Amino acid sequence: MAKVTRKIGLSLGADICWPIAFTEIMKRLELAIPQGRNTVRFEVERMTIDPFDIREPRRYDLVIDRLTHWYHTRREWIKKAVILDDVYVFNNPWAVQSMEKLTTYAGMVRLGFPVPETWLVPPHSYDPMEDLQVTLQRYARHFDLGAIGKKLGYPMFMKPYDGGGWRAVSRLEDESALRESYDQSGKLVMTLQAAVHPFDRFVRCIGLGPQTHVVLYDAKAPLHDRYTMKADFLSPSERALIDGMTLVINAFFGWDFNSCELLHKRGTWHPIDFANPCPDSQVTSLHYHFPWLIKANLRWAVFAATTGRTVKELEWRRFFAAVEEGMTLEERLEALLPIVHERFDTERFGEFCSKHLAHLDEVTHEWFGTDDARDAVRKKVAALFPPHEVDEFTEIFFDRIQRWRADEPVGSAA
Ligand SMILES: Nc1ncnc2c1ncn2[C@@H]1O[C@H](COP(=O)(O)OP(=O)(O)O)[C@@H](O)[C@H]1O
Ligand SMILES: [Mg+2]
Repeated sequence: MAKVTRKIGLSLGADICWPIAFTEIMKRLELAIPQGRNTVRFEVERMTIDPFDIREPRRYDLVIDRLTHWYHTRREWIKKAVILDDVYVFNNPWAVQSMEKLTTYAGMVRLGFPVPETWLVPPHSYDPMEDLQVTLQRYARHFDLGAIGKKLGYPMFMKPYDGGGWRAVSRLEDESALRESYDQSGKLVMTLQAAVHPFDRFVRCIGLGPQTHVVLYDAKAPLHDRYTMKADFLSPSERALIDGMTLVINAFFGWDFNSCELLHKRGTWHPIDFANPCPDSQVTSLHYHFPWLIKANLRWAVFAATTGRTVKELEWRRFFAAVEEGMTLEERLEALLPIVHERFDTERFGEFCSKHLAHLDEVTHEWFGTDDARDAVRKKVAALFPPHEVDEFTEIFFDRIQRWRADEPVGSAA
């Protein structure tokens, strides 16, 4: 058998902790996976930023990207590498580039998901541009903001159409707050969205390939306590619904790694923000849930790189054709999930993991008890917290990971 090495490139920005965990656990796995006539081994490398010749030889088999959504040099490298070299990348860079929050609402409205009522309003002001005045004079009509407010009802949310990281999000209680916020919104293009109010549960569902993990989220808690450690907050049918919606969203938009926010009100789970294709991956927010992310990421990366997975074209029409007027949400998911699982190759992935990654649980469990793991946590804490809090928060996050180790003894399902 010939030995081949699959090279995984990490396209990183401010990330500190997860690349350390990913790389160290990958080493400890000592993978040598038979694939056809070859034995596949893995190398993980952090990508550097350099000039590149578009005809350069293939440098990576798979790239896990954290930069495309804002760093255009890397985005262009990735797109050329997909086109020229069939590099597999999480996430599809074209989808990340073009699918803003409002576009994602539109896609899921068409599939019949209970997205709250959403409007877009033209911006309050503009940067000067050559044809701007003539365009606005001819076509921009006065509109009655108060009337849109009445339609949506209060409270409502105003947020940028391309949002992220709670930037410029406001909750508006009445018409005067709406008018004031709009007047202050400047050049931002804003959406207005009916609030899911009152809601009794807020979850974040992280999707990585066909794998999902749901966390009860407390948006009012301090940052380090927002991902709660609560269990048993969903019935099995709710869990299936949330997993299903998240997987449909991710398969529809071509995102391997995304986080979907849903709010529950009177029997309905409303997806409110699911354009997060560079989701929070830091131990300082995920803590207890961090090892899940590392394992899911490793499984999907190893599977995709071993099997030579390539970036798939999007297939909106197939999704649209699968649903019909009058279907319940459950029926819609039942009709859509076969497409999702085909796209994610879920069955083959499951078999692959049982066969080649059965030791991942044990290796991960062990590594997260080491001083190296504690040191990785500390590095991230030191980057975010003031010096006098570094010891305290390192212990808080590391302790939560130890709690995960106790709750999930080796051999239990991930
Ligand atoms: N329609 C809504 N109903 C209730 N809460 C909302 C709604 N939209 C946003 N929020 C609240 O505002 C927060 C930020 O809005 P979100 O759409 O997630 O923007 P971002 O992309 O900046 O994270 C959400 O996490 C939630 O707490
Ligand atoms: Mg959000």
